[in-house]
Amino acid sequence: MKPPPSFAEQIVAWQRQHGRHGLPWQHTRDPYRVWLSEVMLQQTQVATVLGYYQRFLQNFPDVAALAAAPLDDVLALWSGLGYYSRARNLHRCAQQVVVEHGGRFPADSAALATLPGIGRSTAAAIAAFCFGERVAILDGNVKRVLTRVLSFSGDLAEAAHERELWALATGLLPHQGIEAYTQGLMDLGATLCSARAPQCNACPVRAHCVAAQAGEAERYPVKTRKLKRGQREHVWLWLQWKDRLWLQQRPDTGVWARLWSLPEFDSSAAFEQASAEWPGTCESLPSFTHTLTHLDLRLHPRRWTVPPRAAATRVDAIVRLWPSGRWFSLTEALACGLPAPLRKLLAATAPAG
Ligand code: ADE
Repeated sequence: MKPPPSFAEQIVAWQRQHGRHGLPWQHTRDPYRVWLSEVMLQQTQVATVLGYYQRFLQNFPDVAALAAAPLDDVLALWSGLGYYSRARNLHRCAQQVVVEHGGRFPADSAALATLPGIGRSTAAAIAAFCFGERVAILDGNVKRVLTRVLSFSGDLAEAAHERELWALATGLLPHQGIEAYTQGLMDLGATLCSARAPQCNACPVRAHCVAAQAGEAERYPVKTRKLKRGQREHVWLWLQWKDRLWLQQRPDTGVWARLWSLPEFDSSAAFEQASAEWPGTCESLPSFTHTLTHLDLRLHPRRWTVPPRAAATRVDAIVRLWPSGRWFSLTEALACGLPAPLRKLLAATAPAG
């Protein structure tokens, strides 16, 4: 008698029948296209990525074109996708592929994982999809699927438990059909095996899933560590003159490197002191908190409107404080790489017209 299908066989069969097949980065083994999609998908949903992906390929059809482009062009095309370190690493990675690998991506996961922005799971996904390498992926969605199937209750905040899960993931790999298996795990994690209210009744691996059998899928994954979060406050200056606002380009390092942002003050007192003699009026916009990985940023936006007839010399004296800046129309600003909270602020508070 034939044994019941293994976990991997079930995933492969389900993916072939019910998984996603029409995504633009499928049905290609071109590592450039697969790599680009995997990096965009690292922190962003498929529906958002679709438009960006096509536009990126139109502008940069291959790795050489991307490597040769100015970083600011890459950041501008990334504008709105967020997590801009991905775009900076993408550009560095393209340059490294051109300079160190003759313009061809290395053809195995271990070598791919040495490139900027390509972690172990992304390297494995590229190698599985492009080269059929039998290697495990373990992104956030797949961790959720596998910890449930295995009722793995080790705390993934600890490296030793994460290593253990990698080993278990490797042990589950099929001997055939790694492409469908890899895509199937991703598809399952993105659909039925959701973080909250998973649809265990419709799941192809329900019979294999220890957590589902016990009715406790939502207990997994376990990740306890609470980051000790820092706090910081800034006054953000929205300096408006006629139909323009002043943005400065941030330095090459640190949070939001190279993105365009509002001039910043560390306290209201510093802002008030600097602006004491400026012409125009100031409006306090609602303060809000933006959450970074290790930090809560409390932001206090002030919109300072300089009268249209103010003398250019007086306006120059103000903006000289931020020499890495220039004037933008709102439309121009929204087309640049902007920190996510600034994009939200501009979109939400823009004066009509
Ligand atoms: N998320 C990460 N990689 C993906 C892929 N190849 N298809 C769909 N979603 C994904």
